[in-house]
Amino acid sequence: MHKLVLTAEERQDFDRVLDGLTATADDWDAMEAIGRAAEAAHELPLRLRAFLARARAEESAVTVVSGIPLDPALAPTPTGWDLAAKTAAGRREELALLLCGSAMGDAFGWASQQDGRIVHDVCPAPGMEGSLTSASSAKTLSLHTEDVFHPHRADYVSLLCLRNPDAVGTTITRIDSLELPEELRAILSQERFRYYPDDSHTGADPAGTTGRVLYGAERFPYFRFDVDFMSGEDPEAADAITATQEILGAAADRVVLAPGDIVFVDNYQVVHGREPFAARYDGKDRWLKRLNITRDIRRLYADSGRRSRIIGA
Ligand SMILES: [Fe+2]
Repeated sequence: MHKLVLTAEERQDFDRVLDGLTATADDWDAMEAIGRAAEAAHELPLRLRAFLARARAEESAVTVVSGIPLDPALAPTPTGWDLAAKTAAGRREELALLLCGSAMGDAFGWASQQDGRIVHDVCPAPGMEGSLTSASSAKTLSLHTEDVFHPHRADYVSLLCLRNPDAVGTTITRIDSLELPEELRAILSQERFRYYPDDSHTGADPAGTTGRVLYGAERFPYFRFDVDFMSGEDPEAADAITATQEILGAAADRVVLAPGDIVFVDNYQVVHGREPFAARYDGKDRWLKRLNITRDIRRLYADSGRRSRIIGA
């Protein structure tokens, strides 16, 4: 894991950049905010910019920046992303995430997820405790590739932690940490798997897509995996999913995000999950902002034939 901790002076500088951005943001327009954040990112502390530039160039699997300044008067944790969407709760923090995210790539969203918003809210929602979405709490979120079903899934899932009072762990397993038996590796490298939209997507094609689990360079492999939203196209492939899930689970690390931490999870090299916790709905629950990042938005424009950052819009 690559980690940078901002100094007190760097935090002040970061805060000043945020002040400049928020002062001009009367009417929130996420698309416009992306451009403004990219421009203002050049005013961020040099050490931070250099750190992110190198993380991107070297394909760092897990990149953490600690000490992002949060608003001392941060709103209470909303009880669901839909309620968060109706307010400007955490807007300043969304800009902080867009600022750092612009150094890693291009932000995008999904028409089928959180109403097509660019920056998502990850917070527990009443009635969703046992769901397989980021609104859950009591249920473990198993290790997964974000939006595993889609060819334009993120290169990076980025999360900015606003609150995490119970030190709930984010679980991660890197592909390069795994000892995969040769036979299993061979099956995972073949087009014998089907991937489905997860439950956070409404209206996405339920038929999903087919593909391989392991892809890319043999010495620097990428992978896509989500045991809850994939199936084998034949019994041997199905067994390979079970075997891989066991290996992934046994190799899992955990990262505990603290308020002011941003993590960039490389969605090609790392699967991530979340430990269960008890939501209290008292305004102090765990709350993250989430941003999907692609390294080149034009891959999406070219394939969709539309110049939209919202997939499926
Ligand atoms: Fe996720």
